[in-house]
Amino acid sequence: MREDSPSLTALFVAYARAVADREPELRRACQDPIAARILPRPYSTLIRFAERSRSPERRYRELRVSSLGLVDHVALRSGMIDRGLTRALDAGTRQVVLLGAGLDARAHRLRALRDATVFEVDHPSTQELKLRKAAGLPVLARDLRYAPCDFERVSLSEALLAQGFSPQDPVVWIWEGVTMYLDERAVEGSLGLISQLSASGSQLIASYVTPKLTATAHPSAELGLWALAFLAEPIRSPFKPDDMARRLARHDFEVLDDALPADVAAEFGVEKPLRWWGMPDEHIVIARKR
Ligand SMILES: C[S@@+](CC[C@H](N)C(=O)[O-])C[C@H]1O[C@@H](n2cnc3c(N)ncnc32)[C@H](O)[C@@H]1O
Repeated sequence: MREDSPSLTALFVAYARAVADREPELRRACQDPIAARILPRPYSTLIRFAERSRSPERRYRELRVSSLGLVDHVALRSGMIDRGLTRALDAGTRQVVLLGAGLDARAHRLRALRDATVFEVDHPSTQELKLRKAAGLPVLARDLRYAPCDFERVSLSEALLAQGFSPQDPVVWIWEGVTMYLDERAVEGSLGLISQLSASGSQLIASYVTPKLTATAHPSAELGLWALAFLAEPIRSPFKPDDMARRLARHDFEVLDDALPADVAAEFGVEKPLRWWGMPDEHIVIARKR
């Protein structure tokens, strides 16, 4: 990503959640009424135009379809993560770290976080935007702390410990839509630190893409990859599911679940999700620290 401006992919996915929140079918998977409030222009303008039109439902539907499946994919991806997170919170976890948080609004939208401290870790240039846009918004988590950190340069542990993170207590790590943009060394280094900072029973919920994406000769996928590279956020680290499981095992995490958002759509009551051609094989893995 560019050093001096917020991550564009963070804005795209927040926009996707804002649109999904206006589609009753997708709200069954993920509800994010905050996304539209913290989006900058021009994304917020698109939502406002639709809202103020004579037929908002039709316009929302058009925004959903014109995203070529991004809106459906992100709603399901974030919904799977909300579900995993809520289960861990119900089981008593009281710390949550959002790695590469972008405009993630969980601390402002999930009541299940009422007893938990949320740490948002992100590149300083993206986090500056989140801080500015979310200033004054009610926080539903017990506490929300910001830890600026460039994973490729700064130690994650230093950034978190400085904010009062407790390595003795279990934590849920959420790494949504980030691993693919880091180089393999940064992913491995982060997994090592995540493991060191995770008490037994902690969970890691991460998304990753498989090499199918970068190996495909399909023109639309090639266009998507080209667009990401053009936006200075190229796909750098794809992993096969068994490779990801082995890496996690090396860091003392056992996989509890690994699935594609589109494959669990029916569990949320989303009957025929539009498949995102940009990153159709982004998996969500849930793993527990031994
Ligand atoms: C696609 S966005 C995902 C945002 C958020 N997790 C979500 O799903 O809404 C990718 C995020 O990774 C962050 N990121 C990318 N490279 C990073 C780095 N080297 N250090 C810290 N954060 C990074 C970006 O700032 C951005 O917030």
